[in-house]
Amino acid sequence: MVNIVEEYIAKVRSRIFKDESKLSIEYVPPKLPHREEQLKRLVSYFINFVENPGSCFPKVIEVGDIGTGKTVCAKKFGQDVTDYAKKVGKPIKYVHVNCYKCRTLFLILQEVASQLQLPVPKRGFSTQELLKIILDLLVDKNLYVIITLDEVDSLLQTPGGEGALYTLVRVTDEYLGREHRIGLILISRDENFIFKLDPSVRSALQHNVIKFPPYTKAQIYDILHDRAEEAFIEGVVRPEILDMIAEISGKDTGGRGDARYAIEILWRAGKIAEVEGTSVILPDHVRKAVKDTLVSISVEELKSLKKHQLLLLLAVVRVLQRKRTEVKVPLSEVEAEYRMLCEEFGEKPRQHTQVWEYVQELKSRGILNATVGSKYSRGRTTLVGIMHEPLGTLEKTILAVLRGGDHG
Ligand SMILES: Nc1ncnc2c1ncn2[C@@H]1O[C@H](COP(=O)(O)OP(=O)(O)OP(=O)(O)O)[C@@H](O)[C@H]1O
Ligand SMILES: [Mg+2]
Repeated sequence: MVNIVEEYIAKVRSRIFKDESKLSIEYVPPKLPHREEQLKRLVSYFINFVENPGSCFPKVIEVGDIGTGKTVCAKKFGQDVTDYAKKVGKPIKYVHVNCYKCRTLFLILQEVASQLQLPVPKRGFSTQELLKIILDLLVDKNLYVIITLDEVDSLLQTPGGEGALYTLVRVTDEYLGREHRIGLILISRDENFIFKLDPSVRSALQHNVIKFPPYTKAQIYDILHDRAEEAFIEGVVRPEILDMIAEISGKDTGGRGDARYAIEILWRAGKIAEVEGTSVILPDHVRKAVKDTLVSISVEELKSLKKHQLLLLLAVVRVLQRKRTEVKVPLSEVEAEYRMLCEEFGEKPRQHTQVWEYVQELKSRGILNATVGSKYSRGRTTLVGIMHEPLGTLEKTILAVLRGGDHG
């Protein structure tokens, strides 16, 4: 007799993955190859804050292109610093806030309070009151906090966002007198970010910049090698496959040096091998995975967009698909398509001004290109286009995200 439990398990158990979660974006691996220098510098900036809490107010900026390890290094530093602090009995906490999701000081502070599990009322307070409450609680509970403001450049694109940054950068001057309870790590893709700031804030930051250069092929190989060991059953991924993906993504071999892109291809290739029922990943699985992977936009990024931004983006894709010879199309046509999509998805369309703001946001995130007028058109029509992604792949991914319902 066949054991039905055994049979079932044998059928559903992957022959490819040992632990797929090791390829997910949230995972912080124990080692970060080729980021030793950056991690060491983070430690050196914060060592005083850790050894003598309250003695200084460290402020550091991490800058580098997409997928160069800025977020994961800050998180790894956060984990290690809190582990160490615990061991030696120092009351230091780490908080990681994504400013794209928390665009105002109020939202940032709420997020800080929630991650620190501070008993802060949700409503009925102004931002300044909330800040005061949090700072008082830090004193009451004798806590010191390292706050990472990830994607901090999105604050500069929101009204009031810049003020949020100033308040935080100068927080100890204004509120705490001599005791420094906060340290800051700011993360930005844009290298010129600091030059866009008020000189008083800039001077406090510009000497503490840690750069994250794009990864080379050899570096991506090492990163993939470690991940593959954790995520795949032994023998599933041969070195040639890692080499192939590293070559596609390495800065020196024509890629962008983006580790996220490389890891996503590896994961997708694994999924394709799983579906095709092979016991190893083949080069053709990688080729197919590349075709399915967006180059300049990550799935995570799409997931972080609002539903109506996704619908608008889908509308751009649809109009561009229809007008195959056009590089850019008028926003008015996109809006008409967007309204139709809203109907299809049972959503009430947003007003023109809101749509226009969405376009600006998508533009500033590098997802859309938008220009006003062109030599081909008179007047001030806004023209939008998508430069880097094959429309079919983008459409498929947007639809998957919309159907997954997994967005903000
Ligand atoms: N040196 C490394 N070792 C291991 N994994 C890495 C390394 N660098 C990046 N990664 C992985 O690559 C992916 C992208 O890294 P991360 O999210 O830190 O990039 P980022 O610089 O913050 O990019 P973005 O600007 O798009 O937010 C993550 O899954 C991360 O774990
Ligand atoms: Mg990041």
